[in-house]
Amino acid sequence: MANRERPAGDVDYEQHGAGYARVRRPDPRIAARVHAALGDARTVVNVGAGAGSYEPADRYVLAVEPSAAMRAQRPAGAAPALDATAEHLPFDDAAFDAAMATVTVHQWRDVEQGLRELRRVSRGPVVLLTFDAVALQDFWLAEYLPHVFAAELTRFPSIDRLVACLGEGSAHVRVDPVAVPWDCVDGFGEAFYGRPEELLRPEVRRATSGIALADADAARRGLDRLARDLASGAWDERHGHLRGLPERVGALRLVVADA
Ligand SMILES: C[S@@+](CC[C@H](N)C(=O)[O-])C[C@H]1O[C@@H](n2cnc3c(N)ncnc32)[C@H](O)[C@@H]1O
Repeated sequence: MANRERPAGDVDYEQHGAGYARVRRPDPRIAARVHAALGDARTVVNVGAGAGSYEPADRYVLAVEPSAAMRAQRPAGAAPALDATAEHLPFDDAAFDAAMATVTVHQWRDVEQGLRELRRVSRGPVVLLTFDAVALQDFWLAEYLPHVFAAELTRFPSIDRLVACLGEGSAHVRVDPVAVPWDCVDGFGEAFYGRPEELLRPEVRRATSGIALADADAARRGLDRLARDLASGAWDERHGHLRGLPERVGALRLVVADA
């Protein structure tokens, strides 16, 4: 195991990671977008791999994941996971056909260094799944947890910053919005845009790092207010149309850099 005194990211998954894999399961529709972006890569490194969400099952995958609690939640048969960080990938240059990193860049200590490493070890595309924190401010949950959403603005690297870093040299980088289906099985905050009651479940809150990191009393007050608005019908008056919306384009983005 790597000799690491502090967690590799801003969340201590040894403390917060238990139960993550039950709530944060890969959504097959989002997975299809990630896998398409990997093109015809046969070998893939998945960095910040967590419990293995979005890893393709039909290619050779090697995972990199610094948290033992997360590695322990990888299902039997998942790709092997190395204890390392994005900033120092223990691989030769161009060792893989593609590199991927899903919902993790916001936790890295040095985003530029991590992305340079992904670029270095991939001879093909680099595929990121992440959130645009500016677009995230439009999500109705920001009314209830303004401190959480304000913090996400500084926590998530901007999409422009990711594009600039991945585009160093001559790589072409594209940014595609990813629609979130109403019944999304990956339990990130926006996944519950039309199912607000789910956000009141403690395990859902624990699996969302923005809430887990926030001031606990303020988060509880905000979610108590949400519970009251759901009970009184106030939430439905403002946002009830979302209960029947089959998908919503929010803040989820696929950032893909060509070789
Ligand atoms: C929100 S989880 C996402 C896991 C998985 N990729 C997914 O899509 O569900 C973020 C992961 O990034 C990992 N992480 C944090 N800092 C990291 C770093 N510097 N390098 C690589 N991974 C890191 C965490 O341990 C955690 O497992």
